Amino acid sequence: MASWTSCLFSLLLVGLIAETAGELLKSGGFETLAGWACPHPAQCTLTNDKHSGQHSVLVKGRHETYQGPSQLVTLLPGHLYKINAWMKLLNDHADQNLLINVGFQLTDDSHIYVAAAGHFDAKVSEGWVHVQGDFVAPHKPLKSTRIYFESKPSASVSFEVDDASVTQAQHVTPVTTSYLNQQIDQHRKSNIHFNVQTAHGVHHNNVRIHVLQTKKSFPFGSSFNAGKYNANASHGRYQDFIHKHFNWAVPENALQWYTIEHQRNHMNYQTALDAIHGVRQHGLKVRGHSLVWSAEKHVQNWQKNISAHELRHVVQLHIQQTMHKMRGLLEHWDVNNEILHFQWYQDRFHDPDYNLELFRLAHQIDPHVKLFLNDFDVVVRGDATLEYLAQAKKYKAANVGLSGMGVQCHFPEGLTPDATAIKQRLDLLSTAGVPIWVTELDVVAVDENKRADLYEAALRALYGHPAVQGIIFWGFWDQTHWRGPHAALVKGENLQLTAAGRRVLDLFENQWMTDESHDLSQSGNQFKVRGFHGDYEVNVYYQGKQHIKFNFSLGNQDETIELIVNP
Ligand SMILES: *[C@@H]1O[C@H](CO)[C@@H](O)[C@H](O)[C@H]1NC(C)=O
Ligand SMILES: *[C@@H]1O[C@H](CO)[C@@H](O)[C@H](O)[C@H]1NC(C)=O
Ligand SMILES: *[C@@H]1O[C@H](CO)[C@@H](O)[C@H](O)[C@H]1NC(C)=O
Repeated sequence: MASWTSCLFSLLLVGLIAETAGELLKSGGFETLAGWACPHPAQCTLTNDKHSGQHSVLVKGRHETYQGPSQLVTLLPGHLYKINAWMKLLNDHADQNLLINVGFQLTDDSHIYVAAAGHFDAKVSEGWVHVQGDFVAPHKPLKSTRIYFESKPSASVSFEVDDASVTQAQHVTPVTTSYLNQQIDQHRKSNIHFNVQTAHGVHHNNVRIHVLQTKKSFPFGSSFNAGKYNANASHGRYQDFIHKHFNWAVPENALQWYTIEHQRNHMNYQTALDAIHGVRQHGLKVRGHSLVWSAEKHVQNWQKNISAHELRHVVQLHIQQTMHKMRGLLEHWDVNNEILHFQWYQDRFHDPDYNLELFRLAHQIDPHVKLFLNDFDVVVRGDATLEYLAQAKKYKAANVGLSGMGVQCHFPEGLTPDATAIKQRLDLLSTAGVPIWVTELDVVAVDENKRADLYEAALRALYGHPAVQGIIFWGFWDQTHWRGPHAALVKGENLQLTAAGRRVLDLFENQWMTDESHDLSQSGNQFKVRGFHGDYEVNVYYQGKQHIKFNFSLGNQDETIELIVNP
């Protein structure tokens, strides 16, 4: 009895704290429906089933996916908000999601909808699930803002909601360009201490030291079209651009199962192999994408026709065969693409842990290649971040060979990458203790200069986060970009640089590379160069003539270079 009362007391206390900590929703505990709207013909009623308290809201009779309880709130433009609720699905449907979306009406009466929190591939058997996320209110004058509790793709499922909350994110310092530059300096550079002795008779007025970075070690790459690469598209210019500007590459869809084995037992590995050998000969490293893809629309029809028993065997054979073919050629493999959002194989086998089995299998076949999760809307938006974190923690704890979290970063058109939100989400994801790679970056803007600004904002925020260990673009040429010409860095038959391309290359090949000359008369015999990580060539000139030349590599550790300049 004593414990029952203290439990009740602490529940009341939690309620009180929630009310006083800047809660923006009214009746989020659904003890009453005051403040809530419910669009016709859906019905929202209080029910005795609950996550806490006495009631929750039950939504049924929906005709559209957006229908469910909604509430007007007052938010400040440009601010970051946290949102969460407990939701419970009442009817199963394939790939059904429980979602919290936010609709903004601007003062010009246009609307912006933002996915704020989601639980993906929900199942009735899960019961109450915690749906959590964050979102940024548009940096524009707001007329009104409405929070929607929804479920899709099926409009006919019913669900319940309880303990909903929206609060402004606390203790969040806006991330500025100068903060990001300071982070880049701290995490992407080390010190090179020069200690120069000049022999008798050598006057330091006549000694100049040129420190030139010749290669960056930070992985910077793009996906590319293997067919166009192999065909030496645009008279070799496509190949040349890849070889010259990137140190990593991903054959875009050439390794997808639907490409390799479109028709059952008719394999084509050659296109991918030719392209992979080609870029590797030019010193690039390659990611494998992906062994399996659980989105139903990417599963070949022939797989949908065979028995679950046979299919399971076929998946295993495919992974074995593909990993053997690619052994030693790839640094990474995305094991099963986008499993946070799509679960076709898992559902087909009624096996919630099927993807753990695939990781185990892949790790056993080749323990050297790094195995990745790879998913979307985990950094660009905040609706899937926490679910991705939980997934990564689960895979890490299961010890199945997880080596990386791929965050795709396809920024939607019209959304400016928000450095503050990106930092918050990367901070959260990094708590899994698994390396993070930006695996599929793109932005879309018709205007090339606007596109340049968007790429720069994204790159600075991503490169400026210490947990990010590599950045891969998802295409760069307008002739073959999956998002169309308005995402491209280069255009036309001549692969002419767009303003966006010039900006991106200026960052990676100029601003984020080191090239310094020091005259000993100015810097003294001991000086420091703070250099980006990578390979360097040092030239020492005496009386204008090259005197000493050597190379070295700079990593996370500071380096000291002792030099003697003889006459
Ligand atoms: C690609 O095409 C260019 C121009 O036609 C040619 O010079 C180059 O040798 C070709 N490269 C390959 C690998 O075929
Ligand atoms: C799958 O089965 C359907 C119906 O049985 C058939 O029409 C279709 O051709 C089959 N597809 C493949 C790729 O085997
Ligand atoms: C030093 O680096 C440059 C540029 O990468 C290269 O061309 C040269 O061969 C290297 N020299 C030595 C001695 O390794």
